[in-house]
Amino acid sequence: VKAAATASAGDTLVHFQGDNEGLPLDPNALAPLEPVLARPRSSSGEIREGTANIITVIRVPGGELEESFAEMAAGDVVAVSAICTHQGCLVSDVGTFGTAEGKLACTCHGSIFDPRMGGERVAGPAPRGLPMLPIMQESGHLVATAGFTGKVGV
Ligand code: FES
Repeated sequence: VKAAATASAGDTLVHFQGDNEGLPLDPNALAPLEPVLARPRSSSGEIREGTANIITVIRVPGGELEESFAEMAAGDVVAVSAICTHQGCLVSDVGTFGTAEGKLACTCHGSIFDPRMGGERVAGPAPRGLPMLPIMQESGHLVATAGFTGKVGV
């Protein structure tokens, strides 16, 4: 079985599900802390499949992104792997209270990741943060500038 290629520089982020499935994300339509799931579409138009290519795109509140991650973000919008590094659950929710408030929270065993810190692990059993997919804004779309910054998933 051929492994699905993972996200690479030049890929456009498209909606993973819903009415806009397969269509490019509009970064201006992203409200702060309301994550949207995406997949990378290669420059040849192929949508990359497999769980390793499920991406959480999230706008952090203005000015809250740690400066060291600014180069890998499109303004306030960051993209991280949606696959928890603990046991591979989908991380697509933002917590509403306690340590999880305003952060990406895995509902399986409670790992918490901070999008302001590029998906760094804040709490829980996950051994590592969620790897980031460096992106930029180009012609109103989100485009990867490199592959994931680290190993995706478990
Ligand atoms: Fe996410 Fe266990 S799979 S915390």
